[in-house]
Amino acid sequence: MKGWFGSEGLFEDLSERIRSGIASIKSSSSKGIGFVIFALFILVVLISTRWIDRVPYVISSISGSNAVASKQYFHHHTSPNSQPITLRCPLNDTVKPTCKRRTSTATSPSPSPSPSPFSSPSSSSALLSSPSSSSCPEYFRYIHEDLRPWNATGITVEMVERAKKHANFRLVVLDGRAYVEQYSKAFQTRDVFTLWGIVQLLNLYPGRVPDLDLMFNCDDIPIIRSSDYGPSKPPPPPVFRYCKDGATLDILFPDWSFWGWPEVNIKPWVKLAEEIKEGNKRIKWEDREPYAFWKGNQWVARTRQDLFKCNVSNGREWNARLFTQDWEGARRSGFKGSNLADQCDYRYKIYIEGRAWSVSEKYILACDSPTLLVNTPFMDFFSRGLMPMQHYWPIRPDQKCKSIKFAVDWGNKNHKMAKSIGKVGSDFIQEEVQMEYVYDYMLHLLTQYAKLLRYKPRKPEKATEFCLESMACKASGLVKTFLTESMARSVYDSEPCTMPPPFDPKELEEIAERKRKSLKQVEMLEKRD
Ligand SMILES: *[C@@H]1O[C@H](CO)[C@@H](O)[C@H](O)[C@H]1NC(C)=O
Ligand SMILES: *[C@@H]1O[C@H](CO)[C@@H](O)[C@H](O)[C@H]1NC(C)=O
Ligand SMILES: *[C@@H]1O[C@H](CO)[C@@H](O)[C@H](O)[C@H]1NC(C)=O
Repeated sequence: MKGWFGSEGLFEDLSERIRSGIASIKSSSSKGIGFVIFALFILVVLISTRWIDRVPYVISSISGSNAVASKQYFHHHTSPNSQPITLRCPLNDTVKPTCKRRTSTATSPSPSPSPSPFSSPSSSSALLSSPSSSSCPEYFRYIHEDLRPWNATGITVEMVERAKKHANFRLVVLDGRAYVEQYSKAFQTRDVFTLWGIVQLLNLYPGRVPDLDLMFNCDDIPIIRSSDYGPSKPPPPPVFRYCKDGATLDILFPDWSFWGWPEVNIKPWVKLAEEIKEGNKRIKWEDREPYAFWKGNQWVARTRQDLFKCNVSNGREWNARLFTQDWEGARRSGFKGSNLADQCDYRYKIYIEGRAWSVSEKYILACDSPTLLVNTPFMDFFSRGLMPMQHYWPIRPDQKCKSIKFAVDWGNKNHKMAKSIGKVGSDFIQEEVQMEYVYDYMLHLLTQYAKLLRYKPRKPEKATEFCLESMACKASGLVKTFLTESMARSVYDSEPCTMPPPFDPKELEEIAERKRKSLKQVEMLEKRD
């Protein structure tokens, strides 16, 4: 693989690649697409800017960039005789729904002891056909990173108790049953839909989620600062949440919106991803508005208000078309005009952080218009798999208008390249972040976490059991609709994807370096403009 990075043969090799590569980009099924695309981009950069003297530099920045795309995706095969999952609510409204026990297969309600937290969960579930499963997406490797702070010490009950003051709720799983103790109400229904996700996981992988005890915070901003903990200081309290940055040690978990966000009418991901895919087909990329689009709530972050300076209405053409999302108005009009699947009508889409990361990221990337991503320190569980110039075009936060204008002008002159970035980004979201992988991520994360526990979890006195029936039977309105739509319908009858190994420090260093160089490169392109 390394061979053709040698600078001597670069041009022959690249043009060779391009000739055979364009076809494969179109069919979008070949291996190493990301690499070919990147090569195409680099070639244009080289030619259009006469950066011949920079060849070695550019080359070194692309080595290894083929890693992401050369992947075969697998899908869980739920065969016709997969065990169905059903929700049965009492007909009499005054009767409290009870949690039905869901056993893995017909074989077992043997009173087995609960799985020991000291060993990995046994695959007691008699998984029927287990085709050798493929490796999980690369971003799963960050599970090891998130848990590394406790790798040497393990996680004691004292550490978990210390995390309590940061938590909205405590989740305990014992012998396949889930219990929650709520400490404070989370914003809107974030906690409800997060717990609903846990219920689906337990149902999809019966017998596979080990006994565990964890603290969860549903707010945006990560809080466990790594500078407060370390070798000579106490180990950090383990706190699960949706977002972190480079300076914090919060453990990343998929956010509630994968199961739905009723307050703003955002449907469950499994459905919305499909709708966006369909929406993409409506207008060919070339026929879309040749500008960068963003619509959202600007009041949650100064940088978003700042972004609005780039709007065309301010008298200058920065190639941006920016709109306020008025949620109150949208609610009153039944959310007409704010359907995310209808927002792929522009050639470029802007992603910008909110108070921290924003759940909009997956919807924006899912449009096959390239994402102009305003660089941000915040990450969620999957965004760590994204690479600038491969999955998105990076925008400088300190010069948003100029940066956006340049990106759009560039893309409008280089259709093929721009479309490729759009495609690689949306393929990543649609394939590697499909719901089945979201569940596998949760399963692997919880399994690894549970292995670190140095005590046997117990049900806290004030915790209550929750399950399909307890959550869905009494729900109403859009909450009920989304709970129903995101409910898993049958048990997975194949193995989860296999967990990839931890990064070694050198690999992490290389990834950071690759990112840094790529950003630098765009910066230099902008400067020359
Ligand atoms: C529902 O249950 C309550 C209490 O058990 C009972 O009094 C009531 O008659 C029941 N209603 C119906 C329609 O069965
Ligand atoms: C954690 O420690 C074990 C040995 O105790 C080692 O094999 C493993 O690779 C470590 N994991 C990480 C993520 O460093
Ligand atoms: C941005 O400009 C467009 C086009 O003139 C306009 O429709 C829109 O309302 C403007 N957005 C904001 C937030 O002012």
